[in-house]
Order: sequence, then structure tokens, then C-alpha cells
Amino acid sequence: MSHRPYRVALNGYGRIGRCVLRALHERGSDAGLEIVALNDLADQASLEYLTRFDSTHGRFPGEVRVEGDCLHINGDCVKVLREEAPEGIDWAALDIDLLLECSGQYTTRADAERFLQAGAPRVLFSQPMAGEADIDATIVYGVNQQRLSGAERLVSNASCTTNCGVPLLKLLNDAVGLEYVSITTIHSAMNDQPVIDAYHHEDLRRTRSAFQSVIPVSTGLAKGIERLLPELAGRIQAKAIRVPTVNVSCLDITLQTARDTSAAEINRVLRQAAEEGPLKGLIAYTELPHASCDFNHDPHSAVVDGSQTRVSGPRLVNLLAWFDNEWGFANRMLDVAEHFLAVSTVQPAPVKD
Ligand SMILES: NC(=O)c1ccc[n+]([C@@H]2O[C@H](COP(=O)([O-])OP(=O)(O)OC[C@H]3O[C@@H](n4cnc5c(N)ncnc54)[C@H](OP(=O)(O)O)[C@@H]3O)[C@@H](O)[C@H]2O)c1
Repeated sequence: MSHRPYRVALNGYGRIGRCVLRALHERGSDAGLEIVALNDLADQASLEYLTRFDSTHGRFPGEVRVEGDCLHINGDCVKVLREEAPEGIDWAALDIDLLLECSGQYTTRADAERFLQAGAPRVLFSQPMAGEADIDATIVYGVNQQRLSGAERLVSNASCTTNCGVPLLKLLNDAVGLEYVSITTIHSAMNDQPVIDAYHHEDLRRTRSAFQSVIPVSTGLAKGIERLLPELAGRIQAKAIRVPTVNVSCLDITLQTARDTSAAEINRVLRQAAEEGPLKGLIAYTELPHASCDFNHDPHSAVVDGSQTRVSGPRLVNLLAWFDNEWGFANRMLDVAEHFLAVSTVQPAPVKD
């Protein structure tokens, strides 16, 4: 690393925000980023407690303590803020290079620019934005980070499902050609579902207890993939099902290929990419008899389960790919953040009111 670590703040310190901080900590001293501030609606005691003890990822592997307005992580101060509105914080005064927005509350360009107007130089969002015009770029690390020119100020890290599906679809489209794609996301529960039935969301099914049912929910996955792979536009459908587990999800992907193929060929393409190609470290391949919890805390965007690949007729392919929806995605946030900052060449101009 030839520069001081980039200074980064977190807005929203829930599942993804906490995983980002912890994943950075677990990367050790080579990390090119340091988290200098975090903002959430919760009180300091809760922030400290949920950093130290995590039901999904276990105890924090380091010292965590609150003192004054700092959450100390192994002695380093992360300044703690508690403001609901972006304008409530002078982000410029924090001298940050990048804000990681992990509350999920800001999905339009007008929303996003509130952070720039309040002094944040650049923002990376932990979700896809409402439309393509709402963001300067949507990045799936390993697939299109090269498209960042250095001039962008608002970037989206897409979704955990897009990060899992897009590298695999791109590989297979290049290798055998894809005519049509149909995907079912089988996703563990999230904090946008209640533990027992409660008024909650405009999606009626999200009012239902997360731990009593398998629950179909709405998904923007098809739209998200089309943004990254426009060559497949109009030929992708997706649905999503929430299941009563706390973490780790999978994509059940059905593909109609442009030419005859076999399970052996599909697995060879994906295995080679995982073991030898530029996606090594981002996707993985296994044929072991795994269950979902084996992938808890797995940093890959996708782990192809080759034992589940099926080909019906010569052109109808079905695949299973696992992903830790929290940990894999948090690691990609860090990868994209480092690349975004490394290529940023221009000083941000002030945003006009
Ligand atoms: N969890 C995943 O697997 C996953 C994977 C990829 C992407 N994402 C995306 O990442 C985003 C966050 O998801 P999550 O699972 O981390 O949700 P979460 O656990 O609910 O965390 C969001 C945090 O942001 C806080 N918050 C709400 N409004 C805020 C505001 N105005 N300013 C600052 N903090 C605020 C929330 O506080 P309260 O609880 O008090 O509201 C909560 O602590 C969502 O867009 C989600 O789609 C999630």
C-alpha cells in the first residue's frame, strides 16, 4: 500500500454495516481502508454489544469498548454518531474519502445526493438503486469494476443475489450462450421481516413471521442482472423465497442454452473459472455434500455446488450456487470501496442546491 489507509465512514450499522467493519478487521493490517466513524439510530451500549456478540458470526475477534464518543476496536477510535438525516452530520469535517451507506434507506439520486450536499465526497451504497439514472455506476466486483472512470461519486454495490448470479451467468453466456434465464433465490430471513406476524411492509407477505413459514417475496433480481448484463435483457425472470434460517442463501438457476451442453461441461467451465481465472477468490466450486450453514462466514460471492448441476435434454441446465448473503456481500463492499478510491482521480466538485 503506497498511501495512507483511505478514511471511510459507515451510515447504518446493522447486519451489513457490522459485517463490513468486522470483515475489514479480519483482513488485518494490509487493508487499505480504515473506518473512522459510524452513524446509526441505536444507542452506544447497543452498538458496542452487537459488535462484540453476533449470533451468526460469533464473538468479535478483538477488543471492543465504548469510551466517550468512540467505539474502540483494538484501541482504534471509530467515532459514533446518532443522526437520522444525512444533513445532521458534517461529513466533510470527518475528513473521509468515502461513505459506505448501509442503512438501505436511500434509493433515489435525490436521496443519495443529500450525502454529497452534506459534505461526503463519495458514497458506495449497499443495495441497488431504484433506477439506472439514480446512480453513477452499479458494480459487481470481478465483472465490471473496470468501468469506473474515476469521475463517479455515487456507486452501488448491487445486491448479494446479483453478486452471486452475474459472474456465473457471464461465464456461461460466454462459454455456451444463454437463450433464457429463470432464477429462484432461496434467501435466509432478514431484518425487514418480523419474528411474529406484524404490520410491516407494503409487500403483504412480509408481514408474516419469518420463522414460521417459507415466504415468497418480491425481488428486483431480474432487473438487477439486466443492468449488469444488458445482452440478456428481456430474457430473465426471477422470484425469491425467504426461508427460516438466519444466514446463507442460494440461487437455483435454470438456463436454456444456445447450444447442446452437458453437466460435465457446465461444471468444467465454472470450476476452471473458480480455480484458475480472474474470478478466483470471488467464486468457488465444490462437490461436497454441503448444507447451507457450511457457508456461514464464507467470503465468496458464489460457491457453485457442482453435485447439484442437472441438464435435461441437451439445453436445459439447472444449477445451485451458495452465498453468505451477509459476509460475501460485505467483503465485496470492501473490494469495490478500495477500487473506487484507487481509481478516483478528480476532487469532488461541490454539489449545487
Ligand atoms: N442483510 C443482507 O443479507 C444484505 C445483503 C446485501 C445487501 N443488503 C442491503 O443492505 C441494506 C441494509 O440491510 P441490513 O440487512 O444490514 O439491514 P439492518 O440490519 O436493518 O441494518 C440497517 C441499519 O441502519 C439503521 N438505520 C435506519 N435508518 C437509518 C438512518 N436514517 N441513518 C442511519 N442508520 C439508519 C437501522 O436502524 P433501525 O434498526 O433502528 O431502523 C439498522 O441498524 C439494505 O438495503 C439491504 O437490502 C442486505
